[in-house]
Amino acid sequence: MEVANNSKHSVFIAVTEPFTPPHRLSAWSTLENHAARLRTMRIAELFEHDAARFATLSFGHRGLLLDLSKQSIDAPALAALIDLAGQARLPDGIEALFAGEHLNFTEDRAVLHMALRGACAAPPEDAATLAQSQQRMRAFTVALRSGTMTGATGKPIRLVINLGIGGSDLGPRMAAQALVPTGLRATPEVRFVANIDRRELDEALADADPASTLFVVSSKSFATAETLANAQAARAWLQAGLGAGCDPALHFTAVSNATDAAAAFGIPAERVFPLPEWVGGRYSVWSTIGLPLMIAIGASEFDAFLAGARAMDEHFRTAPPDENLPVLMGLAGLWNTDFLGIESLALLPYAHGLRSFAAWLQQLEMESNGKRCLRDGSGSVIHTSPIVWGGVGTVGQHAFHQLFYQGTRRVALDFIVPVAAADDVSQRSLVENAFAQSAALMSGRDLDTAFASLRAKGLAESEAAVLAPHLVCPGNQPSTTVLLPALDAFSLGQLMALYEHKVFVQGWIWGINSFDQYGVELGKEMARSLSAGSGENHDASTAGLMAAAEAMRRT
Ligand code: F6P
Repeated sequence: MEVANNSKHSVFIAVTEPFTPPHRLSAWSTLENHAARLRTMRIAELFEHDAARFATLSFGHRGLLLDLSKQSIDAPALAALIDLAGQARLPDGIEALFAGEHLNFTEDRAVLHMALRGACAAPPEDAATLAQSQQRMRAFTVALRSGTMTGATGKPIRLVINLGIGGSDLGPRMAAQALVPTGLRATPEVRFVANIDRRELDEALADADPASTLFVVSSKSFATAETLANAQAARAWLQAGLGAGCDPALHFTAVSNATDAAAAFGIPAERVFPLPEWVGGRYSVWSTIGLPLMIAIGASEFDAFLAGARAMDEHFRTAPPDENLPVLMGLAGLWNTDFLGIESLALLPYAHGLRSFAAWLQQLEMESNGKRCLRDGSGSVIHTSPIVWGGVGTVGQHAFHQLFYQGTRRVALDFIVPVAAADDVSQRSLVENAFAQSAALMSGRDLDTAFASLRAKGLAESEAAVLAPHLVCPGNQPSTTVLLPALDAFSLGQLMALYEHKVFVQGWIWGINSFDQYGVELGKEMARSLSAGSGENHDASTAGLMAAAEAMRRT
């Protein structure tokens, strides 16, 4: 693909570039043949046929290990997937991404969050503003963390509350949880509020002192209803708490590129941190949207976070497809979705620090690739994004893992496992639990084994025969394991960039625009129309619900 230097033409180029939907590429039918063969084979059987499977299907990069050996895939199928990537011109797509071509062609924008991590150049016209805002963000962080930033009464700021939603919340919140050890409060402490439900803000304010609290209004558009409602509530709380004569503006800063809207709210331009248009919300933690994270972990840890992501960027850009972690992970996911008919992907991080990882990834994957319109305007006839969900592994294994063991569906599983320091007993046990789960979910338990185990426990033959079917676990759940040496800033940056690029790989091959979100806009329009008036112009159910809610409010 020719890289467009003239942004005005890049939409045109992206849309008119010869494009073949993936299911029409010749590699697709080869893959269907492989799928017919592999669908009936158990993963455990693949290990019996190939003792070196772990070695050939595990891939490393800068300390991170990606193990695909427990996927329902073998070397010939993987080779065909790599062919598919080649036929879909994925290398051109990667090149175009890093070159700043307007791959977000419906909004005529480049997609350059990698420039924030120093992995490629920002557009020359934005470079100075970008450097300046990064510099200001650092100075702001240093002032806050050193206690020299004071509020309207002269008290130092000790609590920072981020008001944002979607990409302006999930990334910084998840990363702060991961990188600020529980119990060790950052200086100042950083909290996150996303929900328009007043309860979340009230919880964050429960023990807060208005004189030492700063709100960061994080909203790229400065037009998101939930964030603005929370900002207004925060201002009212400050006004009531600070008393007459104190200026609440000193307790606000904003991250936004809508400086006029921020100014209209009362946050002057010098307290606003802009972010470039070419940074999408769900890719924005690396930008000034990462301000609360930088405040929580400090500028040098934030640098390590960027360095981890940059290392993954460089790998993604330069490694051949058969060694390229995001490419391989993306292909394995596409295989599960489109060839094995697996509809959901469960994220199972074995670390309390990663408790919000699935929520972050849900936005990344489902807002990016939960789409059907292809580059040529036609509709996809194959599935795109899986349904992404999950929760911390050790907790889930006492709850929803039951469905993985004995439910009726196959579910793709991603085990994310930071490895223990040798003397850390609890982390060791987490790691062992993760490995035990992926092994058990692969091998399962057949009827004979179930029967024998019941007999060994002393059950009579007739009783064991009745009970044994209830103990059968089909197994054969495909899983990927990502091992991180530790849950530190570098590894987290690597991990997040791995998933970002995986999403790019899949979106590119599916032929969708991973960088717009017109779907969620429809929901916003409907909410505006409902709050603007009655249920009159809506369907009968919605009108009925509006009337019922109104009646409940009156009683
Ligand atoms: O409604 C979806 C969305 O636009 C996301 O894409 C975005 O991350 C989020 O809302 C928040 O947007 P903003 O930063 O403009 O408030």
